[in-house]
Amino acid sequence: MVIKGILTAGKFVILFHREHKGGKEMSKRIVLAGGSGFLGQALADHVKKRGYTAVILTRGSSAEKNGITYVHWDGRTLEDSWVREIEGSYAIVNFTGKSVNCLYTKKNREEILASRLDSVRILKEAVRESSAPPQVFVQAGSLAVFGDTTDVCDEDAAHGDGFSVSVCQQWEEAFFNDTLPKTRQVMLRIGFALGKDGGALGPLQMLARYGLGGTIGSGRQYISWLHMDDLNAMFMASIENENYEGIYNATGTAPVTNKEFMRVLRKVMNKSWAPPAPAPLVKLGAYTIMRADPSLALTGRNCIPKKLLEHGFNFKFTNLEAALRDII
Ligand SMILES: NC(=O)c1ccc[n+]([C@@H]2O[C@H](COP(=O)([O-])OP(=O)(O)OC[C@H]3O[C@@H](n4cnc5c(N)ncnc54)[C@H](OP(=O)(O)O)[C@@H]3O)[C@@H](O)[C@H]2O)c1
Repeated sequence: MVIKGILTAGKFVILFHREHKGGKEMSKRIVLAGGSGFLGQALADHVKKRGYTAVILTRGSSAEKNGITYVHWDGRTLEDSWVREIEGSYAIVNFTGKSVNCLYTKKNREEILASRLDSVRILKEAVRESSAPPQVFVQAGSLAVFGDTTDVCDEDAAHGDGFSVSVCQQWEEAFFNDTLPKTRQVMLRIGFALGKDGGALGPLQMLARYGLGGTIGSGRQYISWLHMDDLNAMFMASIENENYEGIYNATGTAPVTNKEFMRVLRKVMNKSWAPPAPAPLVKLGAYTIMRADPSLALTGRNCIPKKLLEHGFNFKFTNLEAALRDII
């Protein structure tokens, strides 16, 4: 008890310092673990514009850049340097995970899984040890849990099978097992996020630019897309609205087949017809040129955001052409 009292007092001093730096009241702090990547950077800018303080946990060096604080962590061990950012924070959003855009070698598979499970575990541990825990922990998840299907999938649809599905299931289990007593938990199963600098759209744009933007594989696999503005709004709703809790399909209202997606992309990029890329060619190109698993391009799922619609979430982009024109 005595030790706890001393620790708590220590934390209070840190908190006081943070909340009253330079005699000013600080804005509410949102901690973005793994926030140095594609989705995290977009959300960090967004929360900053909304008047929050953004703190990114990164395996890189601690620094201040563009009004965002970067704090070093390793994504799997408790260290006071980053744990004190969790203490007294308003929200945590966890984006951490080795990119799935790679060859699925044994080593990469292990890292894809471990980076996700370790970060969830250690962040939950930090929240549990905190004397002033955040009111919400939002975890980035993936629609890949549904596997490869053309069936319409809402949150309750059956899961698929295979490596990616298994990763998503273990990720969700790690996040929701032994829930946090004082912190609301939300997982957003994110779809194909369309944004300006990076993400899955980049390689497709490159193919289209070089006249290779034809249908990929059968073209019947679905792309459950959403615009980055809508994704950021989903994160903000999850953070600010206490009615958000549990798992959500974080995707747009109008998924399309790959064939349709490529047609609209070519139209927006002023490209005419392009030859289709049959599955064997995609596999060859994926392994030799893209150095990524071909399932990323050849499989898909047809998901709908049922729970978000039930909450009355207001989508800015429900039309693919409008979304792509806004970005490209
Ligand atoms: N982009 C999408 O459309 C999409 C769709 C569905 C799901 N998601 C999921 O959403 C999350 C964020 O996506 P994103 O596109 O922003 O990914 P990203 O650009 O790859 O960023 C992920 C961040 O995780 C950290 N990281 C990478 N490997 C790690 C490792 N081995 N151990 C610890 N940290 C590691 C990196 O930060 P540091 O190097 O700074 O530590 C990296 O910036 C991922 O889990 C992804 O699977 C994304």
